[in-house]
Amino acid sequence: MNARAVAPPRLLAAEHYPRIAWLLALMAISAATEGLGLVLLVPLLGSLGQGDPGGIGAALTALGMPTRLGPLLILFVALVTLRAVIVQLRALAGHRFETEVVDGLRRRAWQALLHCEWRVLLGMKRSNTASLLISRVDRAGIFVNQAILALSTLITLGGIALAALVISPLLTAGAIVSGLLVLTAFHGMRRRAAALGDALGRAHSGIHSRLDEGLGALRVIKGLGREDKALDELVSEFAGLRETTIAYLRDTGRGQIALQAGGAALLALLVWLALERWHSDVAVVLPMVALFARALPLIGGLQQAGLNASHARPAVRDALDLIAMAEAAREQPAGDVAPPLLNQAIQLVDATVRFSGEAGAALDQVTATIPARGITAITGHSGAGKSTLADLIGGLLEPDDGAVMVDGTVLRGAARQAWRSRVAYVQQDPVLLSASLRDNLRWAAPEADDARLVEALAAASAGFALDLPQGLDTPLGDGGRQLSGGERQRLMLARALLREPALLILDEATSALDAANEAQIAAALGPLRERLAVVVIGHRGKLVELADREIRLDAGRLAQAE
Ligand SMILES: Nc1ncnc2c1ncn2[C@@H]1O[C@H](COP(=O)(O)OP(=O)(O)OP(=O)(O)O)[C@@H](O)[C@H]1O
Ligand SMILES: [Mg+2]
Repeated sequence: MNARAVAPPRLLAAEHYPRIAWLLALMAISAATEGLGLVLLVPLLGSLGQGDPGGIGAALTALGMPTRLGPLLILFVALVTLRAVIVQLRALAGHRFETEVVDGLRRRAWQALLHCEWRVLLGMKRSNTASLLISRVDRAGIFVNQAILALSTLITLGGIALAALVISPLLTAGAIVSGLLVLTAFHGMRRRAAALGDALGRAHSGIHSRLDEGLGALRVIKGLGREDKALDELVSEFAGLRETTIAYLRDTGRGQIALQAGGAALLALLVWLALERWHSDVAVVLPMVALFARALPLIGGLQQAGLNASHARPAVRDALDLIAMAEAAREQPAGDVAPPLLNQAIQLVDATVRFSGEAGAALDQVTATIPARGITAITGHSGAGKSTLADLIGGLLEPDDGAVMVDGTVLRGAARQAWRSRVAYVQQDPVLLSASLRDNLRWAAPEADDARLVEALAAASAGFALDLPQGLDTPLGDGGRQLSGGERQRLMLARALLREPALLILDEATSALDAANEAQIAAALGPLRERLAVVVIGHRGKLVELADREIRLDAGRLAQAE
């Protein structure tokens, strides 16, 4: 289908090219002004009484440039100022470019996840790939940043090399050849640092997932009294990261020392050769010294940026691979397909679901009917396939074999997507956003006015919310008021009802609630059975008792339908 023919994700896209061109232009201008500024030192020094060493004065005259001291000094100041402005522009453009690339990647990653087939997302959740994807994208930012730095340093060095060539081709050739020799000597060191860089990347990911896990398991950790063990594990993970970081810094630091020392020795040798052996002019040698002194830290910086970029690069590849995988599993959009109305029934016919990597089927040839009105309970032991069945009838999953139908329409492709607009879920762990009560409710129905919100709250036995001090403006979620499990559950029910669903699914929605709260939800569901299909999933309890019929599952097979 055309939905699958998405271009493979790349770090740089065509929309980035204008900014790259602008950035390269700024880099080139800044390098040229720097080089020209240094070249001007020669006639400046020459005008101190040394004549026109190297014929640079004549070359400048040919270019229409001044050769007298006053105008030269003015030109020099102008060049330095221009360069300062360009450097600032370049920094800004570099940052813009970096954030555009990273935000673009982040947007594409999120978009890919949001539109990815539920079946693939279920698999990702298991290995925490989704959160990994997000952290990888962050590291991709480091790559872009360091790559820009390396490129801009390289271009500046190019400007300096050109200036040096203009001033003294002989000295420059000598410096470049010996510089290449030094770089070759450091090759082994760079390889080692790159390997350490990889280890550093892995240690970072390790800490990330360990923290993620720990935060998710705080309740269990406290419950089991394993705070000390959890801390020890984290501390040892940190120690590993620290050791790797220090080894990386030590190794790259050694490289920097060797580079700077070798460079300085080379410079000293060239100065000695120039002055003592070749009897070069001081007005030529001094600017050359200035050029080399400027180039040395730049070369060090280039080496460091190259290493940093090369150890962040695997993250770019991982992020792109994961995006490609999620995009390949993109859902077919509903388009203009009208959702089935659900006037008769939802039917499962020999529906079978197998998850990859699992030996048995999660659902095995299940045939059942859920009428358009009334409450249907789906029961069974843990792992029996209840949530999988809920995902089938809710249009999140397609069966591997068999079919799911609503009023005779098979839930496949676009029809399945369209059907989802008529389904509402209340899940076991209620999700509240860090926003007002009103915004939390309107998430389901953006156009709903306050009167409708109040109506939905009443229908969900959630009248308590209106007694909150700030009413519908009360902030909820992380950044606001904490509600009890039962209160949150009833807000979720109100939100689900605002969608005016044809099918309402409550997956273990009351398993964590006390009898009083459960009774309140049951009271809310009672009147709904006249209007829509309600499916409650659970082992036992008030809601299951309330049901008009039961579908009991046992290890993925239908145990009983009545
Ligand atoms: N993404 C997945 N990948 C592989 N296997 C899965 C996946 N999701 C569920 N399963 C397997 O499918 C079977 C049915 O799972 P399901 O979540 O539907 O059970 P359930 O009845 O809802 O259980 P519970 O009462 O614990 O919520 C289980 O054996 C489970 O391990
Ligand atoms: Mg379940």
